[in-house]
Amino acid sequence: MEDWSARQYLKFEDERTRPPRDLLARVPLDRPRHVVDLGCGPGNSTELLVERFPHSEVVGLDSSPDMLRAARARLPRCQFVDGDIAAWSPGPSTDLLFANAVFQWVPHHPAVLRRLLEALTPGGVVAVQMPDNTREPSHLLQREVAQSGPWASNPAIRDAPRDDLPAVDAYYDLLKPACSGLDIWHCIYNHALAGPQAIVEWFKGSSLQPILSALEPARRDEFLGAYTEKIAGAYKPRVDGTVLLRFPRLFVVAVR
Ligand SMILES: C[S@@+](CC[C@H](N)C(=O)[O-])C[C@H]1O[C@@H](n2cnc3c(N)ncnc32)[C@H](O)[C@@H]1O
Repeated sequence: MEDWSARQYLKFEDERTRPPRDLLARVPLDRPRHVVDLGCGPGNSTELLVERFPHSEVVGLDSSPDMLRAARARLPRCQFVDGDIAAWSPGPSTDLLFANAVFQWVPHHPAVLRRLLEALTPGGVVAVQMPDNTREPSHLLQREVAQSGPWASNPAIRDAPRDDLPAVDAYYDLLKPACSGLDIWHCIYNHALAGPQAIVEWFKGSSLQPILSALEPARRDEFLGAYTEKIAGAYKPRVDGTVLLRFPRLFVVAVR
């Protein structure tokens, strides 16, 4: 998969940083020793962690060179490491694993979550937020275009749209035996964006990325044209001309 683009991702920095703020507000720790921001991206979520825990050692981990470059430039005093969450384990003094908008990209993520939780000492926290938007028009239309255009026979494109997240009950049953406390909730954001093109720009920075990176430039434009047309049909302008991007997200805070 071609690299992520920190620049594209940060076009909606305010909106994208609201879920990690809401997640962090529910983390029941005062002075964790070592904090790791898994899938730290361009450092926007890491910055929140540094502000909240000024006396803790905060490290960001990501697998994207472009995101790591942006994070290091943003927070030069923090350590950022290149790594794959699926193959990574926390050190013995880690008290908080924070993962905003990344586990949806990790294959078989429920088992990885359980493994990471079990690696913490009692009182340690795993805090996770994932988009739960696969039933929203924004995502269904990505799937529709991926499966109907001239690219439909390319498995990298046809299979790129994410599957639904498991049910809340499944997360609860999997994580609870390893937890002293478990809080799971949903939040639905309604982002007022400038128009249908802004919705497309939003997803160019996230879920469209694996699709677009698998297409030749001309096909990329064709894909985006077809997707934009469908988005414009599904998200009608409101009274002030903006469109509302409805965006459900799942939050999990597990205390070992
Ligand atoms: C949507 S961004 C989230 C950025 C930031 N945490 C935030 O709160 O906005 C997801 C990040 O996860 C990273 N990522 C995806 N899969 C990963 C993996 N298996 N291991 C490490 N990082 C991964 C991507 O490179 C990207 O920077």
